[in-house]
Amino acid sequence: HQTPTGCPVSQRAADFDPFEDGYQQDPPEYLRWAREQEPIFWSPKLGYWVVTRYEDIKAIFRDNITFSPSIALEKITPTGEEANAVLASYGFALNRTLVNEDEPAHMPRRRLLMEPFTPEALRHHEPLVRKLAREYVDRFIDDGHADLVDQMLWEVPLTVALHFLGVPEEDMDTLRKYSIAHTVNAWGRPKPEEQVAVAHAVGNFWQFAGQVLDKMRQDPSGPGWMRYGIRKQVEHPEVVTDSYLHSMMMAGIVAAHETTANATANAMKLLLQHPDTWREICEDPGLISNAVEECLRHNGSVAAWRRLVTKEVEVGGALLPAGSKLLIVTSSANHDSQQFADADLFDIRRDNASDHLTFGYGSHQCMGKNLARMEIQIFLEEFTRRLPHMRLAEQRFSYVPNTSFRGPEHLWVEWDPAQNPERRHP
Ligand code: HEM
Repeated sequence: HQTPTGCPVSQRAADFDPFEDGYQQDPPEYLRWAREQEPIFWSPKLGYWVVTRYEDIKAIFRDNITFSPSIALEKITPTGEEANAVLASYGFALNRTLVNEDEPAHMPRRRLLMEPFTPEALRHHEPLVRKLAREYVDRFIDDGHADLVDQMLWEVPLTVALHFLGVPEEDMDTLRKYSIAHTVNAWGRPKPEEQVAVAHAVGNFWQFAGQVLDKMRQDPSGPGWMRYGIRKQVEHPEVVTDSYLHSMMMAGIVAAHETTANATANAMKLLLQHPDTWREICEDPGLISNAVEECLRHNGSVAAWRRLVTKEVEVGGALLPAGSKLLIVTSSANHDSQQFADADLFDIRRDNASDHLTFGYGSHQCMGKNLARMEIQIFLEEFTRRLPHMRLAEQRFSYVPNTSFRGPEHLWVEWDPAQNPERRHP
């Protein structure tokens, strides 16, 4: 194998396959060799340059003109004719939202739509998150065991996401199916025989988003970020376009819920794998907020993101021509020992934990980061207070194979209900 610039490709670079279990189980460990020896490499299986070090990735995020985000939601695996025809039959036209919008269009739109993300605005959502977290724990607290993903962590962030967007609570299972299909479509490698089913789900998701939007347009005075956008469109139709609204209606549901569900599942897995740390946060909830950051650093829910090179540029010693596609593995950057002392150590008192790149960095940095942080914090507060004696059950963790959205599909935990604090000290 050769790089597009004619250099030989090392064996490990040739073998790199982010759809394999090795990457899924532990992306930073899978890429340790690259961080240490070949910080940027060409992946012939992917057709992307893979970037693994903190400094390089931060510099890429910092310059969104040389490194365009336009490919962020593009299909990483081109699909066959049949699947493409299915998508077309639904009128599928997912295009620019915010995350994949170039300047000069991006910044005015981001500024115009920012207000619902301010700390003041987010405070209104806190009681709902708390209430839902309590209700869902009530449902299984006497059982002695639960799959936290299926029984809580999927549905609560989805409900919060819909509430934030102002979307009526529709059939949750269908939305979960749609979201996974979108993940596989954008970041996965579906086999030819799976591609058609994925295309149907994504097409239906697109049409569902359009219908919700049409209904909102009939009365845009109500709550939620999407109606806020519809109202802004009246004053600034060139900034908030119809295509933006339809694309965001679909992508926003995924951005707001899947990331947060996965982040909490990853955090709970990591904490329960470190029982001493778990005990510490149960005894001192004041430790939770920095623990949230350390969990996002050590085991975040977005493992990698993408950029497109718009002019010839050097990255990590490699000269990349315009048109090069980059997979920037933020989860690897988060384990870079040049940035984080003893980077693999899980340390909830780490003072620079929040320097992680799980929310991206710079002008596109995640707008929902503080909503996500609030949700994870509240889930951890409720779990540590009500189920401090829970432990991980014996299990093998599985992941939806894809480069970017990462969290265990199930998380089985168990405890002795007779020891529940609420029974012992009612
Ligand atoms: C952008 C991750 C939760 C809305 C992003 C980006 C990442 C990310 C990696 C791209 C950043 C960049 O290019 O620099 C995450 C993670 C989350 C999370 C890990 C949970 C733990 C949320 C939530 C919402 C949200 C809850 C909405 C309520 C957005 C939006 C953007 C974005 C609107 C686009 C910002 C822009 O391009 O200007 N997120 N996200 N995210 N996220 Fe999140």
